[in-house]
Amino acid sequence: MSRIISPSVLSADFLHLGRDTEMLNRSEAEWIHIDVMDGVFVPNLSFGFPVLSAIRKVTTKVLDTHLMIVEPERYIERFAKAGADIITIHIEATEDLPAAIRTIKTCGVKAGVSIKPKTPVSAIVPYLDDLDLVLIMSVEPGFGGQSFIEGSTEKVAELRREIDRCGSDTVIEIDGGITLGNAGEQFTAGCDVLVAGNTIFGSDDPTRTIHDLLRA
Ligand code: DX5
Ligand code: ZN
Repeated sequence: MSRIISPSVLSADFLHLGRDTEMLNRSEAEWIHIDVMDGVFVPNLSFGFPVLSAIRKVTTKVLDTHLMIVEPERYIERFAKAGADIITIHIEATEDLPAAIRTIKTCGVKAGVSIKPKTPVSAIVPYLDDLDLVLIMSVEPGFGGQSFIEGSTEKVAELRREIDRCGSDTVIEIDGGITLGNAGEQFTAGCDVLVAGNTIFGSDDPTRTIHDLLRA
């Protein structure tokens, strides 16, 4: 198990994205979380290829790309070409999950699958052997700055037990409402990667907040 922070640039200052990315480059965050929304899978729009490739040009951090879009298989290759290191799709957004996972791997990037708050951990268990990452949503996807949904930590613990049982090295990530107050319990429950948007970019000292989240 590892401890990694993946700041979500959805909460960054888009007028100063270069400055914010430089801050992340100098921070202890190993990953950068890129939230892509299509206005169909979630009731919001964010950004796509141009923003991802612009960030790619100024960072060597792992670009952790979270696709909240329907039929993600249509765009996987373009996100890989734009510079994603990990592509995570939603189990609820595709008809043929094994094919979508294969497409991600064929593009030479790591494959992740996310489950929404109401989707049980058991839905993802049959695919664990094929997955580099499982992302547990701890808010309804679509917006930054929401409150953590109670019970999400138990989903992390359940997934940790399943991963240990099948002996896979799948990484567990949690996304939504992560604060300095609940970060520690996610690591304790067996989470490897914490996404945080508002907690980092809404703080007076984002670099320090990343440092504190890592040691929560
Ligand atoms: C929500 C996104 C999250 C979001 C997290 O749909 O997937 O990554 O940016 O933001 P916070 O940490 O503010 O809840
Ligand atoms: Zn996300």
